[in-house]
Amino acid sequence: MESYHIRGGTPLHGEYQVKGAKNAALPILAAALCRGGIHEIYGCPEIGDASVMMNILRALGADCRREGNCLVVDSRQLTSAAVPHSLMSMLRSSVFLMGSLLMRTGEAVICRPGGCNIGSRPIDIHIDGLRHLGYTVTEDAEKVVCSGRCRGGKYVLPYPSVGATENLMMAALSGEGLTVLENCAMEPEIMDLQGFLRNCGFHVYGAGTGTIAVLGGKGTSDAMYFIMEDRIEAATYLMALAGTGGEGMLTGVRGGLLGSVLQVLENMGCRIRSFQDRIELVSSGRLRSPGTVSTAPYPGFPTDCQPQLMTLAACAAGETQICEGVFENRFTHKKELMKMGANIETCGKNAIIKGVDGLQGAEVCARDLRGGAALVLAGLMAEKETVVTGIQHIERGYEELEKGLRQLGGNIEKKSERKTEKTEESAAEAGCISTDHGSGSCVSVLPHV
Ligand code: UD1
Repeated sequence: MESYHIRGGTPLHGEYQVKGAKNAALPILAAALCRGGIHEIYGCPEIGDASVMMNILRALGADCRREGNCLVVDSRQLTSAAVPHSLMSMLRSSVFLMGSLLMRTGEAVICRPGGCNIGSRPIDIHIDGLRHLGYTVTEDAEKVVCSGRCRGGKYVLPYPSVGATENLMMAALSGEGLTVLENCAMEPEIMDLQGFLRNCGFHVYGAGTGTIAVLGGKGTSDAMYFIMEDRIEAATYLMALAGTGGEGMLTGVRGGLLGSVLQVLENMGCRIRSFQDRIELVSSGRLRSPGTVSTAPYPGFPTDCQPQLMTLAACAAGETQICEGVFENRFTHKKELMKMGANIETCGKNAIIKGVDGLQGAEVCARDLRGGAALVLAGLMAEKETVVTGIQHIERGYEELEKGLRQLGGNIEKKSERKTEKTEESAAEAGCISTDHGSGSCVSVLPHV
């Protein structure tokens, strides 16, 4: 049982170098199977989800090792096209293996990436898209079995799902001719996946726009690729600077990727200078409400920054309305923030936050990755000590968050507590850990964002 112990109230200041993007690294690791080769992937963050993805690749027969800042994936020999149950249910992003395994082997067997507590997260668009491309897909309550080759043509996604766009890009590579995907998600991480695939010698065009064209082919070379920066990690650090009344600079991040977030922070009173490779922020001290903020697919305000924004709004002068436009159940942090004194009311996908003068430290529990980050921010802003438990969720997607925040002057420490029956029971009661060990069910107990 590990937890963060945070003493809040200190304005953060200084410089932080943004790490590689989780949401680019995970599909790119899956894409390393599309062409059998020895691929070098640089800048992959050392996070829990990347370790699980590496274990999945190993289970499929690839050799995967970390050499410093580089992940080397040798995917020349695959021994299986079936993603093991136990690993699949640990990682929502394992769904990307459908596309890459189909491209490589003409078959893929996955179990359903389970429900989690930010929404039902079905994979119907992935499956519908694969069928339209010509694959045979059979599914039951537990498994999805896919086979065949892509026959090309056009598929219009009914919603710009990030994961479905990425999966279909990979699945379309097996086609004889041209496949056109329309109404695609436009997230920058999709451009990064395209960059990787092109580095392998595949022909993929248009990522970052609503229309992506994929020309079938086998690929021509081993890749050497640098993962893009993590714009959500960057936003989290910017919000930590803003919320604590601090000032600082993030390096290795293109300000242009964070337009909607920077706009909201400016509306809250922060002074921001955004450059090609860095962002500087000076907080106004007490922030003011940004009014109404709705999350939406890129370039809209990212749903992955909504929990952190709720923390800032909790102490901002005035009333903030947040509309969660992407997931149907993404306010799990609300109850915990209220334990710290926040005034928040939710109704469905809407939240109204009335800014209070300050938060007080409390023991709170992270129930998902970004909700957990929001609680860490709250701890940095609060008076007295905050203990955040359930940090395994946070570590799935942030590399050493506590070290980065300490580097900016935050008073945060990670502590380990020996697991006793009592601590395990109370954590399970609070929903911080699973008590469902290896039941064989595919329903995941960890939220996978
Ligand atoms: C990705 C990101 C996640 C981010 C999300 C939205 C990765 C690894 N994860 O997740 O951090 O929060 O984009 O920006 O990149 N949907 C369906 N059917 C489908 C697929 C999606 O109904 O087949 C719905 C989902 O339930 C959700 C919405 O579409 O309500 C967005 O999901 P999607 O864009 O697919 O998100 P992910 O790819 O899972």
